[in-house]
Amino acid sequence: MNRKIKSCCSLSPRNLLCLLLCLLLLTGCGGGTTDSDGLRIGVALYAQEDTFISSLSQCLERLAQEAESETGEKITLFISDARGNQTSQMDQVDRFLNRGCDVLCVNIVDRTAAAVVADKAQAENVPLIFFNRQPVEEDIQRWSQIYYVGASAQESGALQGRLVLEAWEKDRERLDRNGDGILQYAMLEGEPGHQDALIRTEYSVKALTDAGVEVEKLVNDTANWNRSLGAGRMSQWLEPYGDQIEVLFSNNDDMALGAIDAMRERDWQDWPLIVGIDGTAPALEAMASGQLYATVKNDEKGQAQAIIDLALALYNGEDPSQTVDLTDGQYVWLPYRPVTQDNLSQFLDPD
Ligand code: GAL
Ligand code: CA
Repeated sequence: MNRKIKSCCSLSPRNLLCLLLCLLLLTGCGGGTTDSDGLRIGVALYAQEDTFISSLSQCLERLAQEAESETGEKITLFISDARGNQTSQMDQVDRFLNRGCDVLCVNIVDRTAAAVVADKAQAENVPLIFFNRQPVEEDIQRWSQIYYVGASAQESGALQGRLVLEAWEKDRERLDRNGDGILQYAMLEGEPGHQDALIRTEYSVKALTDAGVEVEKLVNDTANWNRSLGAGRMSQWLEPYGDQIEVLFSNNDDMALGAIDAMRERDWQDWPLIVGIDGTAPALEAMASGQLYATVKNDEKGQAQAIIDLALALYNGEDPSQTVDLTDGQYVWLPYRPVTQDNLSQFLDPD
């Protein structure tokens, strides 16, 4: 692909040279955009401080290097961090496109902004891969060169619910602390409006009610996927509900770890059963030490591999369905896996 930096006619040749030099320094991308530059991928992250996203981003870097040595194709990643700000992310997307990146990968801050990003990419004829934060279907369908790589929110919620259901069936006496036959729970929710927060909240509980378990929600609140916000919520809940919560569902591991922090800080004795989602390294450690009951593995490595494979295929003008498993022509879905004490060692030591 041969993409050109747009000419700035109003600048003198000297200023233009200056500008080009600055761009070169800023981007490391190189002003010249010949094929020998190899594949240049712009990766726009919604927030690099998010534990799962930072781990996915590290996988992208590692797998890009591996793919480079396997294929002999030079691959350069440019990674930007929007810190949760959609306006900043738009600027970062514009910069990637101006610099002539060959493929754009976007972890969109605000999914309602996806159409604008899609139109920008299409205008420059740059294939676009959304990941982890799923735009609505109409936005994916705006152009045939748009893809989504992620995992099914419904599957993660249902698996989390099933882990609790198994515990309830196996060890009801211990779990049903007040012996009323009803499962009293609290729910730590991720970002409002995020597909994973909405759907995990619904489907985790649904797995129990579908199986005929009566449940009672004591309290719920959002904690934006964040460990310290999770700790804050739990410390507010401990006084009024602490001894009644039988299960704490958390839409992700970081918020569950926050709740654990809050209980440890207060030296709280009556711990509920706690379940998370993601299978991050600190969560697996918390399982190994018996603080977190279980989690559901969100396969960051599989998602990163799919993104790199897809980007390479698109760059080389190959049919992507030969490399990745496409659903409806534009979606790559990676499976979730439940993590319990029985299979924990496979996740602690994956390779
Ligand atoms: C979810 C993940 C969360 C958070 C979020 C960001 O899939 O479980 O921990 O990383 O994505 O979009
Ligand atoms: Ca009960």
